[in-house]
Amino acid sequence: MNLIKPFTRALSSSRLIVLISILSGATAGVAQSNAPLPVINIFADKVVAKMPPTFYGLMTEEINYSYEGGLYGELIRNRTFKADAIQEIIKPENYDPAKHYPVKIAVTNAPKFWSTVGSAKISLDTNIILNDALNVSLKLDVSGASKDSPVGVANGGYWGIPIRPNTTYKFSFFAKAAANFPGPLSVSLESSDGKEIFANAEISGVTGDWKKFEATLTTKSIKSSQENIFKLTTTSPGTIWLQQVSLMPPTFKDRPNGNRTDLSQLLDDAHPKFLRFPGGNYVEGDYFNERFNWKETIGPVEQRPGHRSCWGYWSTDGFGLPEFLGWCQDLNMEPVLAVFAGYCLKHDSIPAGPNLEPYVQEALEEIEYVTGDASTKWGAQRIKDGYPNPFKLRYVEIGNEDWFDRSGSYDGRFAQFYDAIKAKYPQLKLISTVGYEQRESIRVHSRTPDLVDEHYYRSEEEMEAQSFVYDSRDRSNPTKIFVGEWATRVGSPTPNMAGALGDAAWMCCMERNADIVHMHCYAPLFVNVSDLGAGRSMQWKSDLIGYNALTSYGSPSYYAQKIFSEHQGDEVLTVSAQNLPTYTWIQSGRTRNGQAQPPRTNEVKSLFYSATRDTAAGKIIVKIVNRADAAQAMKVEISGATAIADEGTATVLKADNRNATNSSNDPKQVVPASEKITGLSTSFTRSYPPCSITILELQAK
Ligand code: AHR
Repeated sequence: MNLIKPFTRALSSSRLIVLISILSGATAGVAQSNAPLPVINIFADKVVAKMPPTFYGLMTEEINYSYEGGLYGELIRNRTFKADAIQEIIKPENYDPAKHYPVKIAVTNAPKFWSTVGSAKISLDTNIILNDALNVSLKLDVSGASKDSPVGVANGGYWGIPIRPNTTYKFSFFAKAAANFPGPLSVSLESSDGKEIFANAEISGVTGDWKKFEATLTTKSIKSSQENIFKLTTTSPGTIWLQQVSLMPPTFKDRPNGNRTDLSQLLDDAHPKFLRFPGGNYVEGDYFNERFNWKETIGPVEQRPGHRSCWGYWSTDGFGLPEFLGWCQDLNMEPVLAVFAGYCLKHDSIPAGPNLEPYVQEALEEIEYVTGDASTKWGAQRIKDGYPNPFKLRYVEIGNEDWFDRSGSYDGRFAQFYDAIKAKYPQLKLISTVGYEQRESIRVHSRTPDLVDEHYYRSEEEMEAQSFVYDSRDRSNPTKIFVGEWATRVGSPTPNMAGALGDAAWMCCMERNADIVHMHCYAPLFVNVSDLGAGRSMQWKSDLIGYNALTSYGSPSYYAQKIFSEHQGDEVLTVSAQNLPTYTWIQSGRTRNGQAQPPRTNEVKSLFYSATRDTAAGKIIVKIVNRADAAQAMKVEISGATAIADEGTATVLKADNRNATNSSNDPKQVVPASEKITGLSTSFTRSYPPCSITILELQAK
């Protein structure tokens, strides 16, 4: 309860701070300084902008085992046996985008992530194949099998196979056998020490022709666990070939070939408005034959060749373009489609001109796949892939981070895509990947992008220091800002409270400036935390949501975003502030022109704020971030509203210290809590806890 208000007017600010400490029970850690009381003034009658309906989104790509070993339901690792593909570098001049380039496989290897059971011998076979897309199979020599000694293969999934009680798993695979194999095959889910069998099934009818087999495996009332394996064995001698060995748990909203339920639910709980996909660097790839070639990610999963991604591991592309759309549908998100724009990461690009044209056409076809109806070639293909309704698409991004393209070709490439897309789809808003945080000389000048995508990966201090940067941006520019990747990178594998504080300061900045910042999304979204060492389940050090095979958790940054997203309002109000406290940040000197620069001392603000209105609910929403290690009092003054009800709500995310974090073992150490508060009016003072993010909901009359 806040008892402070009636006494405040007559007091000087320093005495006030002491009094607040006592009355609010927040004596510990309150700075007893003579500093003047910070004040924010909210002008409830001055609306800066309508809150864009695209404010809190998701940015996603295959990194850190985000889909395979993450969101995508598939539990078998290396189900197509192509993880041993040899990386072949194809330069753009030797690459025809219309052609499929089959990967070569190191056939001497036994396939990664598969092991033998009993006396089985396994190898990769590129002669007996299911189809041209999956141009290798697993050859399983079970000649030593007998009634007493079952022989076969096992797969340990992505750092374990999660088994839950009373759950039905769908198993499917393609198989053929050498002549006279009597079968049957037996499949099971077992603990990796072999002591427990959770579910099993028998498969017969494997013949000399490739055939698809399906079975269900249902567990009983067991304890959930993840140190488990999948096994396929036989007691009949022979030779068998396998391909597309798949095990799917129940999926979110029961979507076939769908997504993991806990991760989907975490995302859904944060109400994301859009999904920027498929990257990120994943859209570009290291080389032209490793880009996100959308046409090879559609259709039946056993027809998708898969590809090596720039994050260093194989992707089956079971999670392809249709699945991105299904994800949007399940979470009611708008797709923000990034198209490949003729540039790959290892610094090769195709300059504007006839050689770029096939990629422009490919982008137009991709847009048709997403938005077309049954009368269009690619719309009809999407319907065949299981998505009858065209998707509402408003934003298309041309490439990703093209400031890395040192050839300077982006302006020309952007223009070629822009002209072709606008000619066919004038309603689409097109996003340049070179934002205003980049040098003027490498930005797009020949066309006016509808939006530019700015990326900010920062330390806590850097993020807080830049958290007023948009307040002074030029308002006359017709191009809006999409902050398509941002994160305070403190804490690993997932950010800690310091990360959440930097993020919240930055989100306040974006909210205050929603007249120019049209949309934004944090990145990266996911990290599999199972092996942070040599096995590398993580490629990027600070990610929003962590998980292993069985459990998942949101970082403090996730909760900061969740509460911001839940308290957006629909109008952004004008706010000004005085007397904001600061802290000293000594920034280590960079090296410039080979010369080490001396450290720089910066005074950085330590309180951040924004204010919005929820018109329908008649509420004013105030966000206050106190990044300091001590509680801080602050006054809120509201003009342009007749009255504010005495009672309101405070939602607070706070931690004992800035290193506090969530993890698989302690998933809810830092989570928000809401409470009713009183003592609110058009002028009130409250104390904000150390290291805290507070959202006040005030009932305006
Ligand atoms: O989010 C990780 C990577 O950071 C993205 O793939 C890329 O766009 C950026 O450099």
